[in-house]
Amino acid sequence: MNIKLNSNFDQLSENYLFSEINKRVAKYKEYNPNRDIIKLGIGDVTLPLGKNVIEALIHASCEMGKKETFRGYPPEYGYNFLKEAILKYYKRFHVDLDLNSVFISDGAKSDLGNIVDIFGDNPIYIPNPVYPVYLDSNRMSGRDIYYMVGSENNNFLPLPKDNMKKSSIIYLCSPNNPTGSLYNQEELKKWVDFAKENGSLIIYDSAYEAFINDDKYPHSIYEINGAKDCAIEICSFSKQAGFTGLRCGWTIIPMELESENHKINKLWERRQATKFNGVSYPVQRAAEAALSDEGILECKNNINYYMENAKLLSNLFDEKGIYYTGGKNSPYIWFKCPNGMKSWDFFDYLLENANVVGTPGAGFGTFGEGYFRITSFNTHEKTKEAIERLKKVL
Ligand code: MLT
Repeated sequence: MNIKLNSNFDQLSENYLFSEINKRVAKYKEYNPNRDIIKLGIGDVTLPLGKNVIEALIHASCEMGKKETFRGYPPEYGYNFLKEAILKYYKRFHVDLDLNSVFISDGAKSDLGNIVDIFGDNPIYIPNPVYPVYLDSNRMSGRDIYYMVGSENNNFLPLPKDNMKKSSIIYLCSPNNPTGSLYNQEELKKWVDFAKENGSLIIYDSAYEAFINDDKYPHSIYEINGAKDCAIEICSFSKQAGFTGLRCGWTIIPMELESENHKINKLWERRQATKFNGVSYPVQRAAEAALSDEGILECKNNINYYMENAKLLSNLFDEKGIYYTGGKNSPYIWFKCPNGMKSWDFFDYLLENANVVGTPGAGFGTFGEGYFRITSFNTHEKTKEAIERLKKVL
């Protein structure tokens, strides 16, 4: 064959971070089939879906089996019943949104990756370290990428700098994946003011907002005045309601967002109508149930369960006097590798000596080198066992 390929893919690492981890663990298991491996790597939930969600899923699936209630293609942008539930959810944070600003998707990852389709060649600012999807999807489309450095000095929360280019696209993630750090009102306001003054757009990933339990941190960027003029928000049911296997998320593109005499909302609408056929009816009903008053309580119980794990893991790092962030308003704990070890070396060391899997910080960006992320999404039993093993090797 002699066709031209997208040469931007040459800029990517061979495997996506979590695929690489899975491959390494599978190889280790092949050679060590009897080892009991505890996975604190990919942030995948372990608790089953709540009763309300399951009932809605079953009910909607049964509707699909009856002539009178069967439904074909869902609306590309989501059913109004779910969009309305999302508007109601945002009212909890005193945010009023327009129904047409909400787009339902099969998860935040897809939208974060696909959103690049609607933008031209703007400078892209990405925190380093951060969730790898922002970087990889912008690399795939050959964009100019600039890093905003996260370090112990800024608690892994970069703030605007005077030398940043105007009219750029800025990715923010709060609570942050992987560091678990999060912006407070005042810091987020700095970003919103900066974006407005510089004609820039913020893409705000709030996938972990449901883990925030301290009022000083905003759940949505729209809690900040002026954010509807400069920010898109992308969120997910994955971690909030345990939908990693069901798949559902949403994106908010306020009507106020305009550039070059175009509404950004309309461009996304056009993009989605062409390339996406919507999320299945039963899954959207399940998502609606997750946002009902009872559903939110049920989800909160699961989140509390994971946060008990996070507390136990944080205690370990406190006891050992090891630098870490996260674990308080986030399911992730980000810590410094012992004895100046590099992230992937520590990954191998931990797998070999404790049979515990985590995620190397370097996989989230060059400035993650020397750090490591573990999740609190496993069961209490396995988390406790992992802590005992970690005690011996840290
Ligand atoms: C993670 O471990 O960072 C997440 O589970 C990945 C994702 O949400 O795509």
